[in-house]
Amino acid sequence: MKFEQAAGTNPIDRQKIIGQPTSRIDGPLKTTGTAPYAHERHGPNHGVVPNQSYGYILGAGIAKGRVASMDTQEAARAPGVLGIVTTLEQELLPPGQGIVANIFGGAEIRHYHQAIAVVMAETFEQARAAANMIRVDYDRADGRFDLATLAPQARVADESGKLKGEPFKVEVGDFAGAFAEAPVTVDATYTTADESHAMMEPFASIAAWEGEKLTVWTSNQMIAWSKGSLAKMLGMKPENVRLDSPFIGGGFGAKLWVRADAVLAALGAKKVGRPVRIAMQRPLVANNTSHRPATIQQVKLGATPDGRLTAFHHSSTSGNLPGGDVEVATQQSRLLYAAPNREIFMKLAVNDLPEGNAMRAPGEAPGLMVLEMAMDELAEKLGMDPVELRIVNDTQVDPEKPERPFSERHLVECLRRGAEEFGWNRRNPKPAQVRDGRWLVGMGMATGFRNSMATKSAARVRLQRDGSLVVETDMTDIGTGTYTILAQTAAEMMGLPLDRVTVRLGDSDDPASAGSGGQWGAANSTSGVYAACVKLRTAIAEKLGMDPTTADFTDGEVRAGNRSARLSDAGELMAEDRIEFGDLDKQYQQSTFAGHFCEVAVDSYTGEVRVHRMLAVCEAGRILNPVTARSQVIGGMTMGVGSALMEELAVDTRFGLFVNHDLAGYEVPVHADIPHQQVIFLDHPDDKANPLKAKGVGELGLCGVGAAVANAIYNATGVRVRDYPITLDKHL
Ligand code: MOS
Repeated sequence: MKFEQAAGTNPIDRQKIIGQPTSRIDGPLKTTGTAPYAHERHGPNHGVVPNQSYGYILGAGIAKGRVASMDTQEAARAPGVLGIVTTLEQELLPPGQGIVANIFGGAEIRHYHQAIAVVMAETFEQARAAANMIRVDYDRADGRFDLATLAPQARVADESGKLKGEPFKVEVGDFAGAFAEAPVTVDATYTTADESHAMMEPFASIAAWEGEKLTVWTSNQMIAWSKGSLAKMLGMKPENVRLDSPFIGGGFGAKLWVRADAVLAALGAKKVGRPVRIAMQRPLVANNTSHRPATIQQVKLGATPDGRLTAFHHSSTSGNLPGGDVEVATQQSRLLYAAPNREIFMKLAVNDLPEGNAMRAPGEAPGLMVLEMAMDELAEKLGMDPVELRIVNDTQVDPEKPERPFSERHLVECLRRGAEEFGWNRRNPKPAQVRDGRWLVGMGMATGFRNSMATKSAARVRLQRDGSLVVETDMTDIGTGTYTILAQTAAEMMGLPLDRVTVRLGDSDDPASAGSGGQWGAANSTSGVYAACVKLRTAIAEKLGMDPTTADFTDGEVRAGNRSARLSDAGELMAEDRIEFGDLDKQYQQSTFAGHFCEVAVDSYTGEVRVHRMLAVCEAGRILNPVTARSQVIGGMTMGVGSALMEELAVDTRFGLFVNHDLAGYEVPVHADIPHQQVIFLDHPDDKANPLKAKGVGELGLCGVGAAVANAIYNATGVRVRDYPITLDKHL
């Protein structure tokens, strides 16, 4: 089904089930420990994979160079060992989709903890012990690990964020001239840190062969991409590969791609002739897979005394492996504020650290941490309220293509509503004025912005003989609530109660969905289910001899004219369809918006920061389920506090690894660190976006939060720290 914009009302608009606060339908499985995660296909409830062995991955002990030799004799004789595959016996595998690191094969080492062997044994402990007996000699080469040192040689990236094509810069009007003439200016440089996804469930896979056919139970956000990617790496036909990933314990973008756990489980299983189970050990999550690259960003703003931006510059430098791309930290800056003279670009420094790749709101998260701090600095110089500064510079059109409007944009309402709810008028604009005993108290705010992408998504719906419904798609639920919103969509469309709908996800044998990434999952996967349900409604009506165009599906019945029938009277029926959007994004810019507000207290003796309360007012089209959407937003807000205050992969610039590669050394906040989080959703269904009139919120909740925290710290202390994370040593 091709989406026709502004198609008017549809059954979803009844909102009997869609839009209602609904607890997760998969909640009981998770809270009772019976949801089968990737590494758990061994219990009675988990779909037993018999005769499993354990695989343990050995990561390279150098960051750059070659493996000169490997001695596996002692390891091979160790108790329980079934087999070993080393990188020297395997040609370098072709690159997987979306990644640049070497996954496996060959002597060349391009980053620390690149996989160089996998050991299969009867138990995990035996595999681990044997892996540590493998003796490796390396020819070590010098690597490039320090972004600050590399930045001067960084080159301007092309439009795709790589160094392949022409350098790309947004140049509108005359930035230099306008900046030179502007009566009020800000020109500052900021840094953000390397960050790790640090998801609870590590990368994990079980691989089993049946002849030519490979099944991998894994933990992956994008099933259709990853099926093709794994087939390509292993030199197989895609139809011989099946992935299954019904539950995922967090991905945050790292699990958009296939990594060494899946590949080495497959190679290992082939070697030992048994299924192989691998859970990537925690240090490899940081150093073998990917991370969010650190950035050095510069913002130059010029404004008139009434706060109108006349000159706008945002540039960012980040590093990546050869062939990798930039952290797209300036992408929101192309769309967020009106300013007639603009200069925006990104630079890339080639390095030899573990791969930089997508992490929740790639680009916008660190980009807004910087831009929205610069806006706070500008507001102070102007003597203007920071909320009003954003409002004055709002735009309803793409600033680079004024003929292209936003489909919906209510940022101003987000900000005004937020200011009112938060008690923003109680903020003292002069920093370091408010004390509560030894604590300095401050308030900060920032704009949140994240794009919303329309992308094709398919689903199958099956009407059962008893009148219940099954939804099948390869869509994933990465903890976001997908099971629930897909069930709500199907129930609304077919006029069934929620408990009459069963949702099956994550199996590559089912229709290819949008998958979970870039906060596009919710709106597109529900639209795919919508399309399939439209088809099923027609099939049911025709079978019952009713007019499909007037048939009404309510309370398990179908009614048309003066006739009615039970849904179950139609017998078993199946429909499959895919939503498609064509070039919708050429006509409209689709984005989501937020006003983030934060109050902190800073200990005036120790510099310790406590977040007291946070508010997000979000505009993201129709909210499909306020319970799961709120959960996404407060999760994002918590992550934003992490990036503002503590998250930082520490780079060992001598040896080229992330030192704090575990959950003890890599600090993240938990909800208990933030006593009060409030989320308000504005009600602006977007009929130009998709049949659900919805957009994503999974990344919006994070975007801008870091700056709101930083600006609150500045308001509390009067010390402006431009290097994230704002640890206490920096503002003492
Ligand atoms: Mo997101 S970083 O695209 O999963």
